[in-house]
Amino acid sequence: MSNLETLVFQAESDFVSAIDAASLEQAKARYLGKSGSLTELLKGLGKLDPDARKQAGAAINIAKQRVEAALEARRDALRLAALEARLSEEALDVTLPARGHGRGGLHPVSRTLERIETLFRGIGFDVADGPEIETDFHNFTALNTPENHPARSMHDTFYLEGAEAVMLRTHTSPIQVRYMQAHVARHVGQDSMPEIRIIAPGRVYRVDSDATHSPMFHQVEGLWVGESVSFADLKGVVSDFLHRFFETDRLDVRFRPSFFPFTEPSAEIDVAFPTGPLAGRWLEIAGCGMVHPNVLGHCGIDAERYTGFAFGFGPDRLTMLRYGINDLRLFYDGDVRFLSQFR
Ligand code: DAH
Repeated sequence: MSNLETLVFQAESDFVSAIDAASLEQAKARYLGKSGSLTELLKGLGKLDPDARKQAGAAINIAKQRVEAALEARRDALRLAALEARLSEEALDVTLPARGHGRGGLHPVSRTLERIETLFRGIGFDVADGPEIETDFHNFTALNTPENHPARSMHDTFYLEGAEAVMLRTHTSPIQVRYMQAHVARHVGQDSMPEIRIIAPGRVYRVDSDATHSPMFHQVEGLWVGESVSFADLKGVVSDFLHRFFETDRLDVRFRPSFFPFTEPSAEIDVAFPTGPLAGRWLEIAGCGMVHPNVLGHCGIDAERYTGFAFGFGPDRLTMLRYGINDLRLFYDGDVRFLSQFR
């Protein structure tokens, strides 16, 4: 075998044993690089006389082409191998069983709100709504809340920057005002006004945060205004609702005298469970009272002719009692491990 032949075989076998592109390029340099063996042979041609140069040149060029062809073949083979390796690494096994969709569920407070709405719709109440950004007038003034009342302070209320008379509502009571005003406007000029019977659930905001207070929480407002609505009606409606809500007859309800600017008389509603972990304790769950004549007056309702009662429940509190939850913040952490227990 001639030297050239040996060289070509050597190159072919070097290329085949190169396991990746880098080692292949190193092997290539040994033959075709600046001082590679084929390059050296070509350089040496200059020393030969013309006839010999022609012969040797042709032979070297053929050898060079074979080496280049072997190099190209190995490059292709390595590229293909790399591609196949990547494809199998990234392969999707379409036969694997799917992970399935999480089905989600209603937040426990949403469940309570739906439940309250259903129970009140059942006794002829409508559901009303109002804005979460309120005016000073609807949130305080129309509700007979004096200018110096502590609820109006910066410590208690989120005011909107640059607009002092605008705030995040601190309770759902302003919905009473909005509803009564709209109701009066709808029946203006008529001999009598149909009864108002609404509940109004929604988010409210206060500067407050601990295990039993959150800067955002929920309230459900209630309002019944008509020609002969009494405190007895208030007691009947509220007690009946609470027994239905907690699905038990064995629940004590009491109305404890209290004060709210927008009701007179006013009361706090407490419940006590005769059995269970909370047995024997009175738990405050709502404020209520007969709508103050000044509030009716602010809304254009004749307080000589019409009376009404109102109440404000804390549905977060009701949810905690119903499900035995002791930290209000759990409702707002968004932890699926907590929330999925209520699905
Ligand atoms: N708005 C009161 C509060 O947030 C709760 C309340 C008390 C609402 C008495 C009423 C009511 O409608 O009559 O503390």
